[in-house]
Amino acid sequence: MARYELSCGDGIAFMAARKARSIQAIVTDPPYGLREYEPNEQAKLRRGRGGVWRIPPALGGHVRSPLPRFTVLTAADRARLVAFFERFSAAAERVLVPGGHLIIATQPLLSHLVYAPLVAAGFEKRGEIVRLVQTLRGGDRPKNAEREFPGVSVMPRSAWEPWGVFRKTCEGRVQDNLRRYHTGGLRRTADDLPFADVIRSAPTRAAERALAPHPSLKPQAFMRRVVYSALPLGRGTVLDPFMGGGSTIAAAAAVGYRSIGVEVDASYFSLAERAIPELMRVPVADGERRT
Ligand SMILES: C[S@@+](CC[C@H](N)C(=O)[O-])C[C@H]1O[C@@H](n2cnc3c(N)ncnc32)[C@H](O)[C@@H]1O
Repeated sequence: MARYELSCGDGIAFMAARKARSIQAIVTDPPYGLREYEPNEQAKLRRGRGGVWRIPPALGGHVRSPLPRFTVLTAADRARLVAFFERFSAAAERVLVPGGHLIIATQPLLSHLVYAPLVAAGFEKRGEIVRLVQTLRGGDRPKNAEREFPGVSVMPRSAWEPWGVFRKTCEGRVQDNLRRYHTGGLRRTADDLPFADVIRSAPTRAAERALAPHPSLKPQAFMRRVVYSALPLGRGTVLDPFMGGGSTIAAAAAVGYRSIGVEVDASYFSLAERAIPELMRVPVADGERRT
């Protein structure tokens, strides 16, 4: 059974306190709007009152997950976001070994604010994974003028989620990094199949959400593929400094990798502690491993 270590606290401080060059990959889904995971917005979400969270009405008895509204971010929020990702990028660059990959979930409206500080900190952008998933974002008619402009959407209905793929600069050739640090490349999905950057993904299943009721829980089928790719030789440790309900750590355990998860919110931390041993055992259909 792959080992994992969990820590309740600030993910950036955790990376800064760790030995430099001691992690082989980072796979994470950060609080990309920042405000949505601050205590006052979390209190509103827990009271069912919205705030920055859009709480969609239940459809036919089916309760849908709340979504943070990134269109309400102010210029000051955006500046804070950039400052947060500058600190994150510097700490991540320090803690990774050369050639280590950092795979980071983001959002089409904000990805540029997440990626620019990573590049400024010295990471190479190596691509972007497109998680094809139907979301509830965008596609609406102009607010309060729906009847007047029935043929207009104010922005595209989003059907994908970007995950940036970055790499800390290699020392020498890829083969040198593979030998010395077990990094530099991505693990193939199968012998006949390189890791591909478009992944069809259903929204997180109700059974997984019941095990780990976190508002941003990612599905195991998708996470296992991404985490598997992050260690080219399957050797080393995967870190998630913003682990939420623990989907990255559960995925790492499921594919047999060592991992470390950090979460600042005490209630999400306990939720992850309880959920990971169950989530890692959730079966994934054969088709979801390759398509
Ligand atoms: C988008 S969610 C991650 C969800 C996770 N991928 C999952 O599948 O459950 C981001 C998480 O980061 C946490 N967080 C926010 N700021 C943090 C910080 N400075 N250090 C560690 N965790 C933080 C939030 O409480 C939230 O649970």
